[in-house]
Amino acid sequence: MQQRRIGDQTVSAIGLGAMPLSTKDDRPAPEDAQAVVHAALDAGVTLVDTADAYARDEAEFGHNESLVAAALASYGGDTSSVLVATKGGHTRRGSDWELDGSPSYLRRACEDSLRRLGVDAIGLYQYHRPDPGTPWEDSMGALRQLADDGLVRMVGISNADIAQIDVARSIVGPALASVQNQFSPGWRFSADELAHCAAHGLAFIPWSPFGGVTAAGSLSSTAPAFAEVAGKLGVSVYRVTLAWHLAQSDVVVPIPGASRPSSIQDSAAATDLQLTAEQLARLSA
Ligand SMILES: NC(=O)c1ccc[n+]([C@@H]2O[C@H](COP(=O)([O-])OP(=O)(O)OC[C@H]3O[C@@H](n4cnc5c(N)ncnc54)[C@H](OP(=O)(O)O)[C@@H]3O)[C@@H](O)[C@H]2O)c1
Repeated sequence: MQQRRIGDQTVSAIGLGAMPLSTKDDRPAPEDAQAVVHAALDAGVTLVDTADAYARDEAEFGHNESLVAAALASYGGDTSSVLVATKGGHTRRGSDWELDGSPSYLRRACEDSLRRLGVDAIGLYQYHRPDPGTPWEDSMGALRQLADDGLVRMVGISNADIAQIDVARSIVGPALASVQNQFSPGWRFSADELAHCAAHGLAFIPWSPFGGVTAAGSLSSTAPAFAEVAGKLGVSVYRVTLAWHLAQSDVVVPIPGASRPSSIQDSAAATDLQLTAEQLARLSA
């Protein structure tokens, strides 16, 4: 498995997006969900992306973090090199998604995530999404404080534009390690943020690399060029898509979601797929 860097940590170039294990309508039973995490680890995946808000609703807030923690604890092998990346700042009201980026909320959320993950410090703590009700600077100050106080080892931001990335760089400082934005064949609006991350040595973590849980099933028809290249290579359209993500820059670390072991097994193999300049030009058109 190819390796990449997030801050000071080496991780697999493909991570596991754990969200579908909690939010997918037909999500797997807990033991099957753990088997998906185990399949990822068996395949050499050492980055698992979760969030406190990945749950069906408010009543089971923290579902995904607890599931990831249980899966790591029950894994037979060594998990010491696994980076668990979680997020705070999204709240749930019923099944709705809301936001709270206030410093007091972020500290409380981080402390709850620490408890659920059963760790002394969170490897990568990401601010989930800008809260229009809280000045960005205040949320960034809260993240800086979490890092200074040792509750989190590295800080990430998510759904941020270039101006927000630059404010985060100045306030959070060297603890800022990553930016997680949406980026897929059908959603390339974060290309400038990706380039900005590459210029400043920040990892860029594309979320919903196939367009999201619902859209992923029709990727072949929505991204025909990717399907065509996949057909010629005799691999899945998902593998070609992730190889295309990886080819954008060395700072890119995609986190494909999976609720079946076979999905993450196939996705993890994308790090062995080298696309030619000609294929990449076709996919970038
Ligand atoms: N920061 C944010 O605001 C934000 C927002 C959304 C998501 N995320 C993160 O990004 C991660 C990925 O996004 P996502 O899960 O929404 O969508 P996605 O990765 O675009 O699509 C996930 C779906 O693709 C299918 N899939 C994955 N690999 C496959 C393969 N090799 N072959 C066939 N099918 C495959 C899976 O099907 P099965 O379920 O059948 O395995 C899964 O449900 C999330 O899990 C989450 O960690 C972050």
